Amino acid sequence: MKAFCHGEINEFIEWYDTDGNIINASDGGVIYVDGKYHWYGMAFRPLPMNSGPNGGQMTDTGVVMYESTDLLNWKYEGVILEISNDPTSELYGPMRFERPKIIYNDKTKQFVLWCHYVKYPGDHGNGQGDSDMGLAVCDSVNGKYRWLGYSKPIDNNGWVRDMTVYKDMDGEAYLIYDRHIADPLLGDKTGGLQGDRCLYVVKLSDDYLSFTSTYKRIESAAWREAPAVAYKNGYYYIVTSGLTGWETNQAKAFRTRSLLDTWEDIGDPCVDDFTHTTFNTQSTNIFLVEGTNTQIIMLERHNTSNFLKSSYVWLPINFNEGGTISLHYKKEWNFE
Ligand code: GAL
Repeated sequence: MKAFCHGEINEFIEWYDTDGNIINASDGGVIYVDGKYHWYGMAFRPLPMNSGPNGGQMTDTGVVMYESTDLLNWKYEGVILEISNDPTSELYGPMRFERPKIIYNDKTKQFVLWCHYVKYPGDHGNGQGDSDMGLAVCDSVNGKYRWLGYSKPIDNNGWVRDMTVYKDMDGEAYLIYDRHIADPLLGDKTGGLQGDRCLYVVKLSDDYLSFTSTYKRIESAAWREAPAVAYKNGYYYIVTSGLTGWETNQAKAFRTRSLLDTWEDIGDPCVDDFTHTTFNTQSTNIFLVEGTNTQIIMLERHNTSNFLKSSYVWLPINFNEGGTISLHYKKEWNFE
């Protein structure tokens, strides 16, 4: 690729790897290691949403990875967290490793992958293994990750929905997730829009492999999901979406001076987004371009008639005076 190409906001543009195959790495992230970027995400199935069982929004492959030195040309590195064909395995597919995020632990020298785990057959339920945080580790960024199981942060009452992981400058790491608690009267036999939903920040242990009891409810970010985190000039930011499933909706950002402190709602960062749909995308992740001041927000335009053809929309974030952020849609751009 010569540029990040996005087309019009109602278009689906395919991005190809260096072998000529469609890049299929949903809602993951980019991690920079020893001069190379590694882009990873869950591999969707090439099916429409309503094709049973559970359509293309599940995976029967796992989490895949691509590498690049220029962020434009991506070479497929393979499956890093693999589905199992053993029906007794926690990794039996189709299932979901939604929104996987990898961080490196400098002390243990391990790459740690957290995701929203949804066991076979990959339904967003409320039972054990349907609404959990999944964990896997590896000694190298692009090796085979070892599955360590799944669990819930804070307590067993809160179902895990969308999540991300953020490694702070001091080496401490945090999970940010949409925690869903059942309506006390309706119980757990409800859909996604009853009860209490809110983003929480949970501090991870030093090795990043477990949750600590230190956490903060982001009161201002109730009924938000798809969190993506950035830091700049004394502020942490979270860009989020509303709760309309794969339907796009208006983004909203929040900021704070300290991750476990109060977060302030700073509104929709999208400029001239006349349809109020985050330019017809949903937030995924934010990363820094090495050696520059550019931070890129990875957004995704999910294609529910063929998930393999979901599109990536990567935009530079503008950090404005006064501590706000803004996003401008570009049909195409590169670093020149
Ligand atoms: C979206 C969410 C995705 C996925 C989808 C439905 O709202 O952001 O991560 O869960 O719903 O499967």
